[in-house]
Amino acid sequence: MKGTLTDRFGRRHTYLRISVTERCNLRCHYCMPAEGVELSPRSHILTFEEIERLTRLFAQLGVRQVRLTGGEPLVRKDVDKLVGLISAIEGIHSVTMTTNGILLERKLQALRDAGLTGMNISLDTLLENRFVEITRRPGIDRVLSAIDAALGAGYAPLKINCVVMKGVNDDEVVSFAEMTRNRPLVVRFIEYMPFSGNGWNDRFFVPWCETRSYIEERLGALVPLAETPHATAREFRAPGFQGSIGFISSMSDHFCDSCNRLRITADGNLKVCLFGKREVSLRDMIREGRSDEDIEVVIAEAVQRKEAQHAGMYNLVDDENRPMILIGG
Ligand code: 5AD
Ligand code: SF4
Repeated sequence: MKGTLTDRFGRRHTYLRISVTERCNLRCHYCMPAEGVELSPRSHILTFEEIERLTRLFAQLGVRQVRLTGGEPLVRKDVDKLVGLISAIEGIHSVTMTTNGILLERKLQALRDAGLTGMNISLDTLLENRFVEITRRPGIDRVLSAIDAALGAGYAPLKINCVVMKGVNDDEVVSFAEMTRNRPLVVRFIEYMPFSGNGWNDRFFVPWCETRSYIEERLGALVPLAETPHATAREFRAPGFQGSIGFISSMSDHFCDSCNRLRITADGNLKVCLFGKREVSLRDMIREGRSDEDIEVVIAEAVQRKEAQHAGMYNLVDDENRPMILIGG
C-alpha cells in the first residue's frame, strides 16, 4: 500500500522508533514518576520475532530508519541480536540506539558487529553528585568512559542528549558545549518536556534561545550549520570547535510540520505522536493471527488520525499520556 504512511498534512513517515523494554537501570526524574511505574508482564512485551515482523512491514511501507529506545535498550537481553535482525531487513538503511551508556562499554563490539549505525548517549550532568541526584543511581564514570569507547569504536559523530533544567543543570551548559571543542561530539540540549508524573513545572523550563545565549556569552557567536530535512535539532558550531551543538526546541518552537516519526511502545502499541495519547495495539493483531494487509490498514488509519501538532506545553502538563519511560525516549 503505497502512501500509507503519508498523513493528512502530507508528512511522510520514514522513521520508526521502537521501544524494546520498559525497564531501566537509572531513574531520571524527568522520565520516571517518583512512585515508579507498573511494568507490563513480560508476556505483554513484543518478542524479537514480533518486532522483526512489524519492522519489515513498516519498511515495506517506506520506513528507512529505525531507532531502538526504552526504557534502557541495553537492559534487554541480547539486544544486539535484535539489531542484527533489523539491519538485515530490506529497505532499512540505518539502525540507531538511544542509551544511558551504563552498560554500553561491554556491548559496544557486539552492537557494532550487528550493524548498529549510530548512537545517542544521554547525559545531563558532568558532576558526580548531581548525576546521583538526577538519575537516583551512581554510574557517571561508566557513562563518561562509554562516550570515549564509543568514539574509539568509530561512532562519530556521537550524539550526547542533555535535558536542560533550570536550577538543576543549567549552570553546566557551557561545560557541555566545551565537550565539543576537541571531539567529534554533537551535544544536543533538549527542552524539558512534560509527561505524566514527571514533576514538570515551568520554573524548571529553559527555552533553547536562553541556553544558546549562555553559551554564546562564554564561547562567542555560534555558527549555524546547514539544516537537514526532518531535523529535530538546530545545529551550530562554536568557532574553531571540532564537534557541534544542537538545540531541540520541542516546546518553545516545535517542529511538528516536518515530523517523520512513528513509535512502537515495548508492549506493542503504535503511537503516531510522542504527545498523543491515542494508541493502537499491533501486538494484539499479531497474536490474533491477522494478516500483514489487515495490520497495514490499521497502521494507515492511525497515521491518518495524526494531529498537525502537539497541544503546547501548558496543555500537555495535564494530559493523560504515558510517562516517558513507558513511551520510549
Ligand atoms: N524532557 C525531555 N527529554 C526527555 N527524555 C526523557 N524524558 C524527557 C523529558 N521529560 C529524553 C532524554 C533522554 C532520552 C532517553 O529521552 O533526552 O536522553
Ligand atoms: Fe532511564 Fe533514560 Fe529514562 Fe533516565 S531518561 S530513567 S536513563 S530511560
